[in-house]
Amino acid sequence: MNKPVPEHLLQPATAFADYRENTALRIDTAAEARSHEAGARVGISRPHESAALHVAGEATYIDDIPEMAGTLHCALGLSPVAAGKLLGVDLEAVRAMPGVVRVLTAEDIPGTNDCGSIVHDDPILCDGEIRYLGQPVFAVIATTREQARRAAALAKQVLKVEAAKPVLTPQQAHALGQYVVPPMHLVRSAAGLDEAGIRAAIAAAPHRLQDSLDVGGQEQFYLEGQISYAIPKEAGAVHVHCSTQHPSEMQHLVAHALHVPAHAVLVECRRMGGGFGGKESQSGLFACVAAVAATLLRRPVKLRLDRDDDFMVTGRRHCFWYEYDIGFDASGRILGAAISMVSRSGHSADLSAPVMTRALCHFDNAYWLPEVAMHGYCGKTNTQSNTAFRGFGGPQGAIAIEYIMDSIARRLGVDPLAVRRANFYGIGERNITPYRQTVQDNIVADLVAELVASSDYTVRRDAIAAYNATSPVLKRGLALTPLKFGISFNVKHFNQAGALVHVYTDGSILVNHGGTEMGQGLNTKVAQVVAHELGVAFDRVRPTATDTSKVANTSATAASTGADLNGKAAQDAARQIRERLAACAAARHGGTPEQVRFANDKVFVNGRELGFDTVVGEAYLDRVQLWSDGFYATPGLSWDRETMTGRPFYYFAYGAAVSEVVVDTLTGEWKLLRADVLHDAGKSLNPAVDIGQVEGAFIQGMGWLTTEELVWHPESGKLTTHAPSTYKIPTANDCPPVFQVRLFDRVNVEDSIHRSKAVGEPPLLLPFSVFFAIRDAVSAAGGHRVDPPLSAPATSEAILRALSAVQTA
Ligand code: MTE
Ligand code: MOS
Repeated sequence: MNKPVPEHLLQPATAFADYRENTALRIDTAAEARSHEAGARVGISRPHESAALHVAGEATYIDDIPEMAGTLHCALGLSPVAAGKLLGVDLEAVRAMPGVVRVLTAEDIPGTNDCGSIVHDDPILCDGEIRYLGQPVFAVIATTREQARRAAALAKQVLKVEAAKPVLTPQQAHALGQYVVPPMHLVRSAAGLDEAGIRAAIAAAPHRLQDSLDVGGQEQFYLEGQISYAIPKEAGAVHVHCSTQHPSEMQHLVAHALHVPAHAVLVECRRMGGGFGGKESQSGLFACVAAVAATLLRRPVKLRLDRDDDFMVTGRRHCFWYEYDIGFDASGRILGAAISMVSRSGHSADLSAPVMTRALCHFDNAYWLPEVAMHGYCGKTNTQSNTAFRGFGGPQGAIAIEYIMDSIARRLGVDPLAVRRANFYGIGERNITPYRQTVQDNIVADLVAELVASSDYTVRRDAIAAYNATSPVLKRGLALTPLKFGISFNVKHFNQAGALVHVYTDGSILVNHGGTEMGQGLNTKVAQVVAHELGVAFDRVRPTATDTSKVANTSATAASTGADLNGKAAQDAARQIRERLAACAAARHGGTPEQVRFANDKVFVNGRELGFDTVVGEAYLDRVQLWSDGFYATPGLSWDRETMTGRPFYYFAYGAAVSEVVVDTLTGEWKLLRADVLHDAGKSLNPAVDIGQVEGAFIQGMGWLTTEELVWHPESGKLTTHAPSTYKIPTANDCPPVFQVRLFDRVNVEDSIHRSKAVGEPPLLLPFSVFFAIRDAVSAAGGHRVDPPLSAPATSEAILRALSAVQTA
């Protein structure tokens, strides 16, 4: 199907002026221009700080760093079986390969053979027990990358193994009671019942729904694969350039592997070509191997994974299997819910526990659940260790309740939107989440009302029914899904950040902070915050590479908290400098420091107007410190891991989307025809960047729920979908021809950075609407008599299976 090319895409979109024009429909450019003139640098649509470098191919990723003389290359030898014992390795055969300088196994690691981020159960190189097919067993260091890869490919021949039968699915692991961390339980009753009481209440409800659901995992598919480049330094130190969301964690892991103090390890990352959670913990193995090799050989060593190896070695979004039992009334209101969630965690704990915690804390999504009993099991399987992926379990928790809402509606023969609305969080006691946090700014009903109106939902619902009545093969479907997403790390102490701001004597400014840039625009936002605080043009401020020797003990750039945490820390640093400048200017020119104003590269002091650089120059002569650190810790958080209660989230972000699809009931093919999105980014720091995040997350989440399917061979345990040839991610062509994304312009009720809200992950839940629109179309094919058993991803095969279920029922 040929889509008309939107007019604006035919224009060259090089200059920012064009960009503003192109997004004019969605961004109030006139209002932005006015506030920019008034000196505001936040709330303004700026292009990404590296946009020009990205498109020109000049942005430096790790593999673009000029290689030092003597650089060697590393490749990993992977286990060809999914479970069993490693009996030995014929290293001579590998060493004999052309260009091979050294072959490393677990014994060569000077410190601990572990790269586990929370639980230390994650060997860097196989320690004798084979845990999955693709597990790194040895590392080849060779003169060229090609030589290293050829030698590593000998793994199949040189590894002597005793294979065992692998455990592959969450169901198998659950049946064996085999978990990577102990099960989690979150039970809450408004009526003061225990679990047995809740279950009895469900059984006694006017209506009951008992079912199970499968939701698949997802590969991060960052464009830049995992890579580390380690350079040995004097006195046992090492400098690691690593594509990572968590430089401090890499520093710790490398220090442990080398058995050196943290001060001997410097980890640096200017930017990632995407991370999406996949480089939060799992960049560790590669950083460790490169650092160990570089240290042992006293040569720079680069380890850059091939895409297939990246699939085979690293984990991804957890697939989930749910069993639930729901009691509801005639209006569709849920009276009680019991659910167990089992994830495929893979061979080690990695981040599976916090992912499951977030899943349990997002099962409520936008709905008040009076009686709830939830159980989370992190199934231990002989597969890659699953990890963070945009939403971090939140999407897996919320999709279950949305599936349930959808099924309740079909049971009752009403529009799912009515059931969703009947269950929204309300006021009074209908405001309390299962983990006992009060929902302070429950704006979801308002937001949904606005979207229902702007998307013409009601009219289109009727039009689709009319279309389906006369269309035997093509069926249309429509769905609106809301989201509520908690912002903060569930682990309280992670919610802290630091920054450094330097003002040089020429008035130019450098900002460094603990967050990492992965394309999401964090550096753009932080630079805006600094420019705003100091009243200068955006171009004066240069963000620099994240570097563990500049800001120490940082948290991962994750849980969407990057701008919230690092923006506040940078603001703190910039504010201190501004206050010193104001004091200096007032001392020189009169008036009080409080009266000094900074805006548009000018400083207004005692009726005079001075250039920002003039004031900086004067301050230098007066021996004023022109650089500062800054720090921030999110206030008001608490979390009790045992009872799973507290206030894990500083605030919630909201959103909703309406999607319309058409499904071909003969082939299972489908198209997204139109999507309308209204998303809450609070008072957006940068509407253009935020809309980009919403659009990207929407399409990425749509891929997860429709075309991206992971298939492990049921006998060998080999991941058979390990390249784009067999693993289908969405492309630009999969964007709907009508894609209307707007921000819901309301201030954050909490004192976040300029009252904005985090935007990185929440919009990943918006494309639930695509999945449920497909389910709606399938349901239409059966005359809406039967609830379609549609698993995710809704591939054409899954759609055909669901169609046959509704048509033969
Ligand atoms: N956007 C781009 N372009 N690339 C990415 O890798 N990662 C997502 C999201 N948006 C990602 C992205 C994930 S998983 C998170 S947690 C947030 O960005 C992290 O950045 P933030 O906290 O600064 O929003
Ligand atoms: Mo994002 S999954 O928290 O890195």
